[in-house]
Amino acid sequence: MESLAVGDPLIDAQHRAFFDEVGAVVLALADGASRAVVQRFHRDFIISLARHFRDEELLLSRIHYPDLDHHQAEHRALMASVTALAEILASADSLAEMMVVVRNTITTLIEHMALEDMRYRRYVSQPQAERW
Ligand SMILES: [Fe+2]
Ligand SMILES: [Fe+2]
Repeated sequence: MESLAVGDPLIDAQHRAFFDEVGAVVLALADGASRAVVQRFHRDFIISLARHFRDEELLLSRIHYPDLDHHQAEHRALMASVTALAEILASADSLAEMMVVVRNTITTLIEHMALEDMRYRRYVSQPQAERW
């Protein structure tokens, strides 16, 4: 995933952790995890996402990223769509349906990282940033 690194150690660690968390829930689902397990993952994920957005917006303001307003709006929209998945999760009664929720969460996150987070990368100056 080196190609998705933004060059800030904290932000890159948070991005990496999302993939680890999603990987763990995919494995749990493959193992027949209950809805409660997936719901707990979803709740924890929202907490990590809120913390990440806050840290990322602090970084963007520190580096005077010119498109911060747009990026914040994207974060708000992403948070709304991930939060809305809780309802689908609450009524999902099969592993397949829960897998759809997890897949939507991953897709939404990857799209944001690839399309939006990559746009601020060139403003981050951390030459010896940890690579992944
Ligand atoms: Fe972002
Ligand atoms: Fe991000």
